[in-house]
Amino acid sequence: MAKRRKLIAGNWKMNGLKADGVALARDLAGRLRAAGGLPAELLVCPPATLIWPVAEAVAGSGLAVGGQDCHPMAGGAHTGDISAAMLAEAGCGHVIVGHSERRQDHGESDALVAAKAAAAHAAGLVAILCVGETGAERDRGEAGAVVARQLGGSIPAGATAANTVIAYEPVWAIGTGRTATPADVAEIHALIRAELVRRLETGSAVRILYGGSVKGANAGALMAVPDVDGALVGGASLKADEFWAIATSCP
Ligand code: 13P
Repeated sequence: MAKRRKLIAGNWKMNGLKADGVALARDLAGRLRAAGGLPAELLVCPPATLIWPVAEAVAGSGLAVGGQDCHPMAGGAHTGDISAAMLAEAGCGHVIVGHSERRQDHGESDALVAAKAAAAHAAGLVAILCVGETGAERDRGEAGAVVARQLGGSIPAGATAANTVIAYEPVWAIGTGRTATPADVAEIHALIRAELVRRLETGSAVRILYGGSVKGANAGALMAVPDVDGALVGGASLKADEFWAIATSCP
């Protein structure tokens, strides 16, 4: 089986105005050019307003750009929403769908997440599909069951290793500084791998990212866990040095 190339993705969330965002992206693109590329693939997902200027600023550097969400429909009367094709035109190759903050803040269901991922695929984007249990669910011993249920409901027909990446982000580890232990991560990533292999022909090649308080200091240990194929990074992706440290921690 071909080796899965790691993907280090920065989710800027609702942070950054144009000057700072473009400067951060330029800084990363410059480091990537100077390094002549990295073993890992590098992606930043800025807020929607910054996608276009960031994509222009990093064009040709190898730094990829993605969106943080898309609407399930291709177009129409959906005030405030953005379609996958609009993201693609602005320079995105990826889009995050089903992030726990959207599942919580906007009540997004597994079915809606599956429809968004399908819309991403139809527009030629790679869907980074997020799953993860809350702290209460973990305390009740339900982490594996919750993640399996989310995968079952959120992976659309037509998903392949080429158009889909899974991100395991335990909600209790997001923005808390509390990282899942390598043992916790290994257990859930193995479960996700088994589900992917059972559901998809290319399941063994789908990349599975870990997210939740990843930083330079813990990235090496997390990226060495079996079936961890990269990271989805929030807070630490807003600092060029930290994000670069994570990016370069991958063999
Ligand atoms: P933090 O890295 O800030 O914990 O956020 C993780 C995350 O939600 C990335 O999508």
